[in-house]
Amino acid sequence: MKDLNRRLFLAGSAAAPIAVASAAPSLAAGPAGITLQEALEGRQSVRRFGTAPLPEDQLLRLLWAANGVNRPETGGRTAPSWRSAYDTDLHVATAEGVFLHQPGTNTLERVLDRDIRAEASDSAFVARAPALLIYVSDGARLRTAAEGADDQALAVGAHVNAAVTAQNVYLACVAEGLGTCLIGGAANRDVIAAALSLAEGSIVTYVQPVGVPR
Ligand SMILES: Cc1cc2nc3c(=O)[nH]c(=O)nc-3n(C[C@H](O)[C@H](O)[C@H](O)COP(=O)(O)O)c2cc1C
Repeated sequence: MKDLNRRLFLAGSAAAPIAVASAAPSLAAGPAGITLQEALEGRQSVRRFGTAPLPEDQLLRLLWAANGVNRPETGGRTAPSWRSAYDTDLHVATAEGVFLHQPGTNTLERVLDRDIRAEASDSAFVARAPALLIYVSDGARLRTAAEGADDQALAVGAHVNAAVTAQNVYLACVAEGLGTCLIGGAANRDVIAAALSLAEGSIVTYVQPVGVPR
């Protein structure tokens, strides 16, 4: 998928500038430039979606809002992260396959050629949404950042890091005229983990269908 909304930052000496791709699409660039107050008033869980695919630029605005780089100088993100672990990886399952969000460039990298939505959840509204966000906590990254933490703290950290990201998606969906619902229950985590060939120690925390409300 092509890069969107790239900004060039100059680094190093003026004589030898290094072009660093970053991305900070404004939600105001979407179909509905709304205030934070309006986004909070509109936030809700939606469980009925149209099946039309989401435009790529809209998906990338959502993903930037979810977990994008908002401070290129430090790599800081739109969502906070326990001990700056940044363990939350966002995959997007669509009819076209599965794509991994790359926050540094706000791009999508194809990781699977097949549609796994139907196997990802037994719940019809989840499995038929045009875009199914899959939250994966990278176990190695989390353990390294949270050195000394016990398994319970690690599990809490993985889920909280995903959940704060999901709230960004909820608010961005209001701005975009989309609907969404965070799903902790109806997710076939083992099936998803196998399909994505997740590393030992990495876990699927939540899934989150997104689509035009119906
Ligand atoms: C951690 C978490 C897990 C959730 N899991 C599910 C779920 O498995 N299925 C579902 O339909 N909704 C799920 N929800 C959505 C809640 O049911 C929903 O937020 C709640 O009913 C309040 O409705 P509202 O979001 O419209 O305010 C979950 C929400 C959270 C925060």
